[in-house]
Amino acid sequence: MSHVHPDGKLNSMPDTPANRTQAQSRINELRQAIQKHNYRYYVEAAPVISDGRFDQLLEELQELERQYPDLVTADSPTQRVGGEPIEGFVTHEHARPMLSIDNTYKLQHEASEKSPNSMLAWYERIVKGLENRTDGLAYFCEPKIDGVAISLRYEEGQLVRALTRGDGQRGDDVTANIRTVRAIPLSIQEAPSVLEIRGEVFMTFSGFASLNRQRAENGEPLFANPRNATAGSLKQLDPKIVAQRNLQFLAHGRGEIEPESYTAHSAFLAAIDRMRVPTSRHARRLENIEDVLDFIETFDTQRADLDYPVDGIVVKVDAYDQQEALGYTSKAPRWCIAYKYAAEQGVTKLLRVDWQVGKTGKLTPRATMEPVLLAGTTVRHATLHNAGNIARLDVRIGDTVVIEKAGEIIPQVVKVNTDQRPKTAEPIAPPRHCPVCKGEVEIEIDKEENETGRFCTNPECPAQFREKLIHFAGRNQMDIDGLGEKLIDQLLEAELIEHFADLYRLKPTTLAGLERMGEKSAQNVVDAIAASKQRGLARGLASLGIRHVGSATARTLAAEFGDIGALMEADEARLAEVSDVGPVVAAALHTYLHSSAGRETIALLRGAGLDLTGSQTAASPDDSPLAGKTIVLTGSLESFTRNQLQEKLEALGAKVTSSVSSKTDLLIAGAEPGSKLDKARQLGITTWDERQLLKELNK
Ligand code: IVH
Repeated sequence: MSHVHPDGKLNSMPDTPANRTQAQSRINELRQAIQKHNYRYYVEAAPVISDGRFDQLLEELQELERQYPDLVTADSPTQRVGGEPIEGFVTHEHARPMLSIDNTYKLQHEASEKSPNSMLAWYERIVKGLENRTDGLAYFCEPKIDGVAISLRYEEGQLVRALTRGDGQRGDDVTANIRTVRAIPLSIQEAPSVLEIRGEVFMTFSGFASLNRQRAENGEPLFANPRNATAGSLKQLDPKIVAQRNLQFLAHGRGEIEPESYTAHSAFLAAIDRMRVPTSRHARRLENIEDVLDFIETFDTQRADLDYPVDGIVVKVDAYDQQEALGYTSKAPRWCIAYKYAAEQGVTKLLRVDWQVGKTGKLTPRATMEPVLLAGTTVRHATLHNAGNIARLDVRIGDTVVIEKAGEIIPQVVKVNTDQRPKTAEPIAPPRHCPVCKGEVEIEIDKEENETGRFCTNPECPAQFREKLIHFAGRNQMDIDGLGEKLIDQLLEAELIEHFADLYRLKPTTLAGLERMGEKSAQNVVDAIAASKQRGLARGLASLGIRHVGSATARTLAAEFGDIGALMEADEARLAEVSDVGPVVAAALHTYLHSSAGRETIALLRGAGLDLTGSQTAASPDDSPLAGKTIVLTGSLESFTRNQLQEKLEALGAKVTSSVSSKTDLLIAGAEPGSKLDKARQLGITTWDERQLLKELNK
């Protein structure tokens, strides 16, 4: 029975016992239905109702839960959208160590005589390990998914915790993020009282591509591959962002199970599959090693059709008693082996090389080739990295080249088939002038005198400026919402921007004149630009795209100098004195700050009203007892990564440096602290452990 009116609107019912009972039963019905449709949609990819109908069910449930807030449960599908942001990750011990696989072998295509030696060697070790009691020996073969391993803990059928592997003993608690993954059930019926399921969280290629497209539009840095994107998503402190990342999950193992209910891996997977936990449809139980080798070979071709990254096959001894008999090395189980497929390669012809100009003026050679199908996509471009690499490969225009894609977005040229080189093949001449502005080019070489990079040195190069603008507006710099690549191209095209500072003069009416730009979005962009004036010195410096001056260095400099004026007065030697700066960075920074272009940029930005003092993250540092303190971190902490803690301390007005000296005010020592702790003790410097740190931070 539902309370839905014919017009689809819900009716608020008075809270009588009868209505309440009715609401509860409808809530149960809706939750079950939504769970089922979630599974159909996210796991089986075979929905049986429309998205609209699904949303209706969810809305009806939300409405009922709004009327009866005490009937909301943690496993309700309404609780997936992502809770409040968290401060940092806490770690927890795994109930059973979470091991990895250290037997990883590359599949040798050349030696595919059906029995690669490493596999036979493993087989022999197994037989020996089982002391020839190989009755009923069977193997379980699964795709090895390139994602992030996660352990899910269900107690009495409720998902209570999700941990990353961490060091195998303890992992980060990522429960809030994992709850947003639609394929992972929040509750399981008829589960053993403790059920730990381990598996891989990953991103599909299509999900990855659309995430990167979106990031490009927002001027955010791109993820290199789906695994990095997954890991980055799970490290998000805000589950609402994770909820949008469309993460997937497939189970491949177990942790603690109480009471022990299964006797083999295949039986365990079949059981959790019935509990609607996603498992791989491509996995096979096989009874002899020859079949295993066949499976590995045939799956290599099948994997090209999958929309997610599979980089090999994991082979496990199926029966748990045989697994136990084989046991473990210090790091990994002896009953498990992994085969890694070679990265997919394609052969094609090199047509052209263009030199692209980056934000620091770096010129990167991009190859255009005859289109070739590689790892499921048509590839036309590959990177050649730099002129040194071109020389090393001896690659020429017209050559037949081998390209490879190892899960990265941009394929690379790995080899030239010189025996197929046409007489007309032309050497690639690295540019001596910028291909866009014809500016002077500077060549960078390493100790062995190999060329590692070429740079356009013209500070007014328009190609550099486009990249610089994208960087300037990016999430980690001035964080200007709505000012992405497309809008930047439009602004440049319309000649509305010649300097960063011109952004701050844009009017809503000017922007509204651009294609695909409504009045409201124009106003939003102008507001976002204005808001960026308050980002402070650290972000301001990082946004300028000065070579070697990224976020971390900019933060150090901001903490040391406090405002742009002081920074500009410092000579090169003074800059090099700053910890973590050093002579190379100091030289690049000093050159920039005293070049006419650098001076002009800074003057114009100040003129536009940019606050280039302090560090904006240091909201009210004066209130904190840590303000102005010089702090050194050592050892590993459980509640924070180094970077998180550094940002936090700097936000409180502290300066974080890397080595202990008489200037150090405080040492924060995590586990296994090392020599910095001894030195701090000798110098009588105050030392806090993590507990004390948390106490002080919570004050
Ligand atoms: S079994 C103790 N099965 O690959 C057994 N791992 O390179 C360890 N992985 O740490 C895991 N797919 O994160 C297993 N079907 C699969 C897997 C898989 C991907 C990951 C897992 C593991 C890593 C080892």
